[in-house]
Amino acid sequence: MNLSYSNLPSKSNTITKTFQFFFTILTLLHLNVNATKCNMDDESGLLGFKSGIESDPSGMLDSWISGTDCCTWEGINCQFDNKRVNMISLSGQPDKSNSILSGTLSPSLSKIQFLNGLYLQNLRNISGPFPTFLLNLPNLQFIYIENNMLSGQIPNIIGNMSKLGALSLSGNRFTGTIPSLIAELTQLTQLKLGNNLLNGLIPQGIERLKKLTYLSLEMNQLSGKIPDFFSSFKELRILRLSRNKFSGEIPLSISTLAPKLSYLELGHNSLSGKIPDFLGKFKALDTLDLSSNKFTGTVPKSFSNLTKIFNLNLSNNFLIDPFPEMNVKGIESLDLSNNNFHLNQIPKWVTSSPIIFSLKLANCGIKIKLDDWKPSETYFYDFIDLSGNEISGSVVELLNKTEYLVSFEGSRNKLRFDLEKLRIGKRLMYLDLSRNSMFGKVPESVVGVEKLNVSYNHLCGKLPENKFSATAFVGNDCLCGSPLQPCKP
Ligand SMILES: *[C@@H]1O[C@H](CO)[C@@H](O)[C@H](O)[C@H]1NC(C)=O
Ligand SMILES: *[C@@H]1O[C@H](CO)[C@@H](O)[C@H](O)[C@H]1NC(C)=O
Ligand SMILES: *[C@@H]1O[C@H](CO)[C@@H](O)[C@H](O)[C@H]1NC(C)=O
Ligand SMILES: *[C@@H]1O[C@H](CO)[C@@H](O)[C@H](O)[C@H]1NC(C)=O
Ligand SMILES: *[C@@H]1O[C@H](CO)[C@@H](O)[C@H](O)[C@H]1NC(C)=O
Ligand SMILES: *[C@@H]1O[C@H](CO)[C@@H](O)[C@H](O)[C@H]1NC(C)=O
Repeated sequence: MNLSYSNLPSKSNTITKTFQFFFTILTLLHLNVNATKCNMDDESGLLGFKSGIESDPSGMLDSWISGTDCCTWEGINCQFDNKRVNMISLSGQPDKSNSILSGTLSPSLSKIQFLNGLYLQNLRNISGPFPTFLLNLPNLQFIYIENNMLSGQIPNIIGNMSKLGALSLSGNRFTGTIPSLIAELTQLTQLKLGNNLLNGLIPQGIERLKKLTYLSLEMNQLSGKIPDFFSSFKELRILRLSRNKFSGEIPLSISTLAPKLSYLELGHNSLSGKIPDFLGKFKALDTLDLSSNKFTGTVPKSFSNLTKIFNLNLSNNFLIDPFPEMNVKGIESLDLSNNNFHLNQIPKWVTSSPIIFSLKLANCGIKIKLDDWKPSETYFYDFIDLSGNEISGSVVELLNKTEYLVSFEGSRNKLRFDLEKLRIGKRLMYLDLSRNSMFGKVPESVVGVEKLNVSYNHLCGKLPENKFSATAFVGNDCLCGSPLQPCKP
């Protein structure tokens, strides 16, 4: 190449010069771009937001300095083509106590005309009303203002934000009813209003939100019947309505969600009637929570077809035998506590689960000797609650095999073993073995847990030094020492 160019010196020179020229221009352009600050409206909109923040103890907004390129500020994203701010995304870290922003949302945010997504999550202390000035942002599609302190009513004018694809206001302090004009937001794929103080009925108009994949209204004070409008939602995958005051039966149209719904949470309401047969057709269902309602009758046989279910919570209802034999490959979490079941055994499909971490079968009429229960996996267990059954034998072997167990509740059974033999895993925080027939002394290892109850057994001897109240130890044969009466010398 060099040789051929040297044969044509004049042309080579011209090419080099042309390249140099363009290179210089490119360099200048490049420098120029770098020197440019972001758009002035965007900068002033963001600085206005910052000035509405009264306190920022973790320094989340420290990089937001006037005169620097706002596209480089923490939590800011700009469009590639025109360098306009299109996303604000600030998120507090729940495990850090100073990860908080206090203050209000400044209307100057409405200067950021290209804003497409506003994510203000877990900032904990942003207060004030719903920011209606966001209506002036023609490109805004995603609003996630979660786990803050916004309050007042959600205004009906929200219905004018017709481009919204996702709206989450969960974890605030909104009061009043869900505005009926929310039904105008027909592009929504996610609507999350959980964990507020909303009351009244679910507006019927929500059936117009046909694109919803995620609807969550849990942890409010909503009441009335759950509307029978679910045949509108062909895409719904997650439905969370737990911890409200809904009454009546599970509406029939929920059956139309069978092909796609994977998560159904209706716990802690006042729902009644039978658990519908059609739930057994929910091939994609992995979580079903119907706990703490007033359901009666049997669990439908069709549940044996719920082969994908991982989390099943039917606790605290009035359900009766027989419980169907499930064909699930592996259950992760099961709670059947406090119904009218007489299971006799721990079900086989539970014992054989290779992935189970939480088993709660309190007051389920189980009559086994615990030593005979040989679960195929014990390693992942975090929670076991077998209170109020007729379980005999010893927990020593089980607790020796559950390395990660956090909580064991076994009160009101017929357990009979020497408490001194019990090995306490490093993670165990909660141990309730009250009202059984344990004997022996209370060893030092046992009082290392955070919450303990060994009352009403046949324990004897001097208690090791401990932090518990007398009710944790009363009702035994001859325990003594603080917090009980001193031992006789
Ligand atoms: C939350 O904000 C309010 C006022 O905006 C303030 O008085 C309060 O101290 C803040 N709370 C925390 C935990 O920072
Ligand atoms: C909201 O939408 C309604 C109906 O389209 C319209 O009449 C009204 O002016 C809008 N309000 C605002 C503040 O944009
Ligand atoms: C089931 O629901 C009850 C109450 O609704 C709750 O206390 C319990 O922790 C849940 N069980 C599991 C395993 O999550
Ligand atoms: C399980 O599903 C199959 C196929 O859809 C059906 O034929 C059967 O009746 C169902 N079983 C129960 C107990 O509902
Ligand atoms: C507890 O487990 C260890 C090791 O797996 C074993 O050697 C020991 O015998 C077990 N103790 C009891 C009481 O089962
Ligand atoms: C221990 O259990 C007994 C009976 O089950 C109960 O009355 C008492 O309140 C419990 N104490 C603690 C500290 O949990």
